[in-house]
Amino acid sequence: MARFLLFPLLLALLFSISSAEIRFSEVRSDDRPIIPFDEFGFTHSGRLELNVSKIQLSDTNPDLDLAKIGFFLCTRDTWLHVLLQLEDGEITCALQSDLIKTVFTFKDIPVGKKEHSVVYKENEADQYTLVFANCLTSLKVSMDVHSAMYNLERGGGTRDYLSAGRTILPRVYFLFSLVYFVLSGIWIYVLYKKRLTVFRIHLFMLAVVIMKALNLLCEAEDKSYIKRTGSAHGWDVLFYIFSFFRGITLFTLIVLIGTGWSFLKPYLQDKEKKVLMIVIPLQVVANIAQVVIDETGPYGQDWITWKQIFLLVDVVCCCAVLFPIVWSIKNLREAARTDGKAAVNLMKLTLFRQYYIVVICYIYFTRVVVYALETITSYKYLWTSVVASELATLAFYLYTGLKFKPEAHNPYFVIDDEEEEAAAEQLKLEDEFEL
Ligand SMILES: *[C@@H]1O[C@H](CO)[C@@H](O)[C@H](O)[C@H]1NC(C)=O
Repeated sequence: MARFLLFPLLLALLFSISSAEIRFSEVRSDDRPIIPFDEFGFTHSGRLELNVSKIQLSDTNPDLDLAKIGFFLCTRDTWLHVLLQLEDGEITCALQSDLIKTVFTFKDIPVGKKEHSVVYKENEADQYTLVFANCLTSLKVSMDVHSAMYNLERGGGTRDYLSAGRTILPRVYFLFSLVYFVLSGIWIYVLYKKRLTVFRIHLFMLAVVIMKALNLLCEAEDKSYIKRTGSAHGWDVLFYIFSFFRGITLFTLIVLIGTGWSFLKPYLQDKEKKVLMIVIPLQVVANIAQVVIDETGPYGQDWITWKQIFLLVDVVCCCAVLFPIVWSIKNLREAARTDGKAAVNLMKLTLFRQYYIVVICYIYFTRVVVYALETITSYKYLWTSVVASELATLAFYLYTGLKFKPEAHNPYFVIDDEEEEAAAEQLKLEDEFEL
């Protein structure tokens, strides 16, 4: 277990060096005609700082047309038009298109120099990708690329390194973390008031909420540090650590509640333990993947692979946590038929069925709906998908807390004969329809 915990932490430390919005990329003997670097949402006072050094071309013939190698900015839409122009033969190199915004071509570099720096002003607000084009076939390029993209804030002229649609994220995360700190306080109060009926699962739930609050606080601080300085510096490590614990504790909690552990029965069955043994290591993998995805940016070489690993692991975890709930529902149905306490069991059954549906809705919303929102909203409103996802998560936490809170008197045991009869009747009906 210790090994599982240590590895992602080490990894987070390793990656924090190369992090965030000021990016450094090494290009070595590369003959790709197009190399995309980074994407950023500019406001009306956007800036791109580009420092290229250690430039080396595989061919040093002075007759090379160096205007065909260089950097440019372009939006996704214009890129499609440029591709059309290339296809129609209007142009032979993306750098010749009048739709793109050329940052500089290698022709602009004084002869013999191996480095070049520019600050490019972008005054048309939009989401741009920084792209390197090399239209000379079989010419290999090596260089170190330092790039920084930021917007100047109105008035003061301070730099904002967060993309236009993300710039309010620090505040969003901070607000949500406050909400969770308040919730932890309320939960502690509830546990104290009803301390005679508190189960271990209720303490575990407290840990989950506190993890979530700390995770959001670190994310707020991480993002606000990036906003101010362009690099992550330490907070990202804390953020990854709490993300890791939050992920593991949340999935474990869903499994434990699903099995009815501690409030229905004091032990876990073997197959229930197996679910935990699958989910916990997978969460470790998911967290490693998340670190790599965050730190490399969408054009890093392993980005797609890790994104796929993350999605796969996430889907497996989400499916796995549903099994214990299904088993519990099945057990309760059987118990209802055999032990004669139909009303009690029906109540538990309804609770577990609702929980099953809520878990599915939560997973569906935070995975599918949020992803769809992210894809269809304009770059300016990227934060809305974060808010939607956090609201759904908050609703899920609230539901779980309300439904499984410690009860001062156990409602299961104060049931009169009439209710018992009605319940038995309904169970019989259910059996007929195999609900
Ligand atoms: C580019 O070089 C300038 C001058 O050396 C430096 O001030 C600036 O921080 C560099 N920018 C990046 C993104 O490396």
